[in-house]
Amino acid sequence: MAQQSLIDTFKRAGQGQVFAFFDRLDAAQQQRLLEEAAEIDLAEIDRLTRTLLAKGAAAGVNLEGLAPAPYEPLPENGGNAADWSAARAAGEEALRAGRVAAFTVAGGQGTRLGYNGPKGTFPVTPLKQKTLFQVFAEKLRAAGQRYGKPLHWFIMTSHQNHAATEAFFEEHKFFGLDRGRVHFFRQGRMPAVDFEGRILLETPGSLALSPDGHGGSLRALDRSGALELMKSEGVDVLSYFQVDNPLVRCIDPAFIGWHLNRGSEMSSKMVPKAYPEEKLGHFCVQNGRLVVVEYSDLPMAMQKETDASGKLRYIAGSIAIHVLDREFIRRMARAGSDLALPFHRADKKIPTVDAKGEAVKPEKPNGVKFEMFVFDALPFAKNPVVIETRRADDFSPVKNAEGVDSPKTSREDQLRQYTRWLRENGAQVDTDSTGLPSVTFEVSPLFGYDEASFADSWKKLSPKPEIRDGLYLE
Ligand code: UTP
Repeated sequence: MAQQSLIDTFKRAGQGQVFAFFDRLDAAQQQRLLEEAAEIDLAEIDRLTRTLLAKGAAAGVNLEGLAPAPYEPLPENGGNAADWSAARAAGEEALRAGRVAAFTVAGGQGTRLGYNGPKGTFPVTPLKQKTLFQVFAEKLRAAGQRYGKPLHWFIMTSHQNHAATEAFFEEHKFFGLDRGRVHFFRQGRMPAVDFEGRILLETPGSLALSPDGHGGSLRALDRSGALELMKSEGVDVLSYFQVDNPLVRCIDPAFIGWHLNRGSEMSSKMVPKAYPEEKLGHFCVQNGRLVVVEYSDLPMAMQKETDASGKLRYIAGSIAIHVLDREFIRRMARAGSDLALPFHRADKKIPTVDAKGEAVKPEKPNGVKFEMFVFDALPFAKNPVVIETRRADDFSPVKNAEGVDSPKTSREDQLRQYTRWLRENGAQVDTDSTGLPSVTFEVSPLFGYDEASFADSWKKLSPKPEIRDGLYLE
């Protein structure tokens, strides 16, 4: 009965094609298709079809009244040193009080990297070939030790990579973390549709489903019970970062402190764009609200605008590092469609089936995927704050197999970072003009995961080692 009523609901919604091959499926396949269909919010698909797919649906973003967003510059770039040290102190206090948890979004498909497996299991460090997950795990372990409070770590996976991610942590004994504090949960999925809004089948017995974007993390944190767990553990601050960026300071006391001292519901880090065409989103204000405008949505003429001193006007580039307030996440997750994160459409080549149920591998985009972006929460946040960070200390993602933002560039940036820490502490390291050392070595996050922790360990180290090929500081 329930089965027939679900099928009827799809038919009434003009989505009967989902069950076109139902009678050909065996019982297990039918069950699977029914389960997938039951997950779909048909009203949401209908709304997205009308708003994002209809002819004449607003193309591009509204740029009216857009202006560059203000941000807090680093002290070395004119920021207020007293405010920065007050922020650091407030962040450290929150960490010692156990109010902070880490959050990694790891549900992406990583198509550009083209690596077979969850992206977090990709090896990234220069010498030991540690994986992204190991790097973060060690940074979090070290931060927990430093502040005397082990951190909770939430990891959002996808349906595709959830089991493999959990198995990887098991296999590596959670990299020494307390397994009771590492929490995995799956993000939501959205069906792909054709250009008329009809849900696509991937095979005769399954829907073309894909992760609902990193913005889906807000709903997923709520749905999975993560927010309730945070509440019962006294955690109200979530440090958000992406799985592809080994340089990120997973836990940055100054950033956390800026967020708390300003009473912010969601805060972000910016780096000054290196050149106008750089592919970063831009922090802007519009109607008094903080927004991120993607590089593809901001006309190049505006990206090139400069101020009287010749500096780019739209200088504040988003690097997808945020701090979020727990109850703000809950509010966003439960908001009605007008106050919730919007979906964006992405036209894609979506493997599907033809009228006979035969597989089709399209050569050009044949449909649309819907995704939410976490930065779309910023306009809804009270007192959002954007702070500057040094790119070299926070951002070198692994996105592409080669070229910019690749394993090679990220590995080199890690080496440059170790080298800067060493030099700041008086060690001798030979480098080229970009700061890249001539030898390959590695600093474990357990030895130092930021300037301060590195300096502490280095001071205690006796005798000081020579910086040579193969050196591993742990
Ligand atoms: P990207 O935008 O780089 O996408 O994700 P991606 O899927 O990893 O890679 P491509 O575009 O297919 O090459 C940025 C971050 O957001 C996470 C990713 O895991 C990454 O940490 N993400 C993205 C999710 O967690 N879920 C999603 O649905 C999309």
